[in-house]
Amino acid sequence: EKGGYEHFMLKEIFEQPKSIHDTLRGRLLVEEGIIKMAGIWDNLERLNQAQKITIIACGTSWHAGLIGEYLIEEFARIPVEVEYASEFRYRNPIISEKDIVIAISQSGETADTMAAIKMAKEKGAFVYGICNVVDSSISRVTDAGSYTHAGPEIGVASTKAFTAQLTVLSLIALKLGKHNGHLSNQEFMRLCTELETIPQKVQEVLESTHEITKEIAKSFVDAQNFLYLGRGYNFPAALEGALKLKEISYIHAEGYPAAEMKHGPIALIDENMPIVIIAPRQGHYDKIVSNVQEIKARKGKVIAVVNKGDTQVASVADYVIEFPETSECFSPIIASVPLQLLAYYIAVYRGANVDQPRNLAKSVTVE
Ligand code: F6R
Repeated sequence: EKGGYEHFMLKEIFEQPKSIHDTLRGRLLVEEGIIKMAGIWDNLERLNQAQKITIIACGTSWHAGLIGEYLIEEFARIPVEVEYASEFRYRNPIISEKDIVIAISQSGETADTMAAIKMAKEKGAFVYGICNVVDSSISRVTDAGSYTHAGPEIGVASTKAFTAQLTVLSLIALKLGKHNGHLSNQEFMRLCTELETIPQKVQEVLESTHEITKEIAKSFVDAQNFLYLGRGYNFPAALEGALKLKEISYIHAEGYPAAEMKHGPIALIDENMPIVIIAPRQGHYDKIVSNVQEIKARKGKVIAVVNKGDTQVASVADYVIEFPETSECFSPIIASVPLQLLAYYIAVYRGANVDQPRNLAKSVTVE
């Protein structure tokens, strides 16, 4: 049932072209120029008139939520906050009938997320669910929602569910923006056309980075720390890359927005510190080039995740992982894939149980 793969996690990493495609199927209709999502369409007015959207989630789903914030604010211009469900539920947040809460949960069973939803509903908010497990508790208790169609995720470390969450959040942001007029039809079409190419680009990145991530992993089996850096849409991707490594390899890792380096973490950098830096050409490319130079000046070991054909970052980096270019807003979907592979191989070479890391459970149904 692992389909010839050594672990479920590796199988699930490799399933991503299909799981993203399945999540887009029947929704992204580029020829017709529409995104079809019943949960959004049926509640369009309420969603587009929200005074704010609060996204609640835990762990990897919370990282997806952070990218969802960037997407919805950029394309639909609705203010978004992202909160850990476990914090939200205990702090009497300001939520009313004019608010929309989006709850993201792969399992649909996470206790903290469930409790946060109940509280939001008591305060009158409309709660929209993004779950992977059909008919799960969260999908039943929410007012409306959209499923991710990633298929069953067995590996404890979330991989294909994460990229499917990003896919659904992209669809939602584009659809809201199209209907509330913040996104021109031309821009909407350009982004939809690009989104349709993502499964193919994920396939490409799997093929082109599988060997190199193994090689890099071998060099870092004995590392004790890792930093992951990114800017803009790829800042949450850096957090997620760090979480993957922590969970399965037990190496301490932290994600940071690259520009925050100089406010503290730069003190950690010496020749023993590996730093994964996500630097696609768009967005804040020249800023990140100078971040990389600052790291190299302190002898940090740079693993650069860059677009194909990159020269500026690649020429100063110690290791280079290339991925196909796409719009900045979709780049975390592609850039996350080699980070999953890197975490996977480091953990495998350390002899860790990647599918069932110590102390972790697939769904956290206790507080
Ligand atoms: C990370 C991981 C956890 C979950 C978190 C939320 O790989 O699996 O951080 O993302 O426990 O789980 P769901 O999405 O099921 O609510």
